[in-house]
Amino acid sequence: MNVMRLPKESVAKTLADARADFPILGEKVHGVPLIYLDSAASAQKPRAVIAAMLGTMERQYANVHRGLHWMSERTTDAYESARMAVARLLNAREPEEIVFVRNSTEAINLVAHSYGRGVLEPGRAVLISEMEHHSNIVPWQLLRDERGTGLRVVPVTDAGELDLAAYERLLAAGPVGLVSITHMSNVLGTVTPAERIIRLAHEAGAKVLLDGSQAIVHRPVDVQALDVDFYVFTGHKLYGPTGIGVLWARRELLERMPPFLGGGEMISEVTFERSRWAHVPHKFEAGTPAIVEAIGLGAAIRYVEEIGYPAITAHEAALTEHALARLASVEGLRVLGQAQDRGGVVSFAFERIHAHDVATLLDRSGIAVRAGHHCAEPLMRRFGLDSTARASFALYTTSGEIDALADALAKVREFFH
Ligand code: ALA
Repeated sequence: MNVMRLPKESVAKTLADARADFPILGEKVHGVPLIYLDSAASAQKPRAVIAAMLGTMERQYANVHRGLHWMSERTTDAYESARMAVARLLNAREPEEIVFVRNSTEAINLVAHSYGRGVLEPGRAVLISEMEHHSNIVPWQLLRDERGTGLRVVPVTDAGELDLAAYERLLAAGPVGLVSITHMSNVLGTVTPAERIIRLAHEAGAKVLLDGSQAIVHRPVDVQALDVDFYVFTGHKLYGPTGIGVLWARRELLERMPPFLGGGEMISEVTFERSRWAHVPHKFEAGTPAIVEAIGLGAAIRYVEEIGYPAITAHEAALTEHALARLASVEGLRVLGQAQDRGGVVSFAFERIHAHDVATLLDRSGIAVRAGHHCAEPLMRRFGLDSTARASFALYTTSGEIDALADALAKVREFFH
């Protein structure tokens, strides 16, 4: 393959130097250095991603899969090499199992629309959990309302873990066609027991979709070892750009699924009487795709690979442990969830201080956190809250930033008392 040559950005060889790869982390907010603890909402971008995208637009840009000219061939090669990077990241059997979409939300909607309406046997239910993001709830409600597909919800324990006994009961309560569950909660940080979820679902004759939007940022994912059926994630949380996400599915499932969107690129032949579909994955990529963004995602994946998951996972585990210890010492602060297996996301609330006020005061110290329901209203209700503040960590987060958060939270409490 004739892969496009873009300038090779030097990448920090150790995590300790990685901060320097992210230009925005040197910025000041309200006159103080930015402390960015909102990476679960969207991660910052390393120079390698910015350079790959700029280089594409400045020097080697054209539409893909269409032109016979040099520029189009080069850009197609770069776009397809990004697909290969995703396949390598997930240990997919072949790049044709990778479908580029806009984000995880679109990937789940694609599965709900195409698999849910085209393949899922009527009478078989969909199982989700109480800790799902809205993007893994609403598409299934739309399917239920249109097709009468049953929708069952696995509860979450007080510790913020999936209630596995209830999961087994719900699997046995009637035929289940698909289990669609997060691999890591965007609110609690809980990492769900994917192997067990998948084994039990398969024993019950159901397929499994894992929403890896958060998990893939923090730990390696091997779709073959997991034996999962669908895996989705979004590029912008994995240090890539917005507007590009991934649906991975077993090839035989993609082959059986009808198209989601119709248009150019997804066909092999069109007449006014009928059209024939292109092979997978192109059958699911109607229209001009997000070319520059896919190339940016490929660069983000190469960046993560160069740093390496072992270092990233160990760093974030240490940060999370440190954060839990420091936040436990802030008077009056409630931290949600005590899952055994968790990633770098911590949600917290003061009893009589609204999360928006907490976030606004933290912002004055240059600390960026997310506040609100985190697109997981049912989970908020489960814990008797309407909102929390949430700090989330990335490979560039430092323990000093977590200390600054804990100190600032103590001051927030003082301010309101
Ligand atoms: N789903 C993203 C979050 O958790 C936006 O913040």
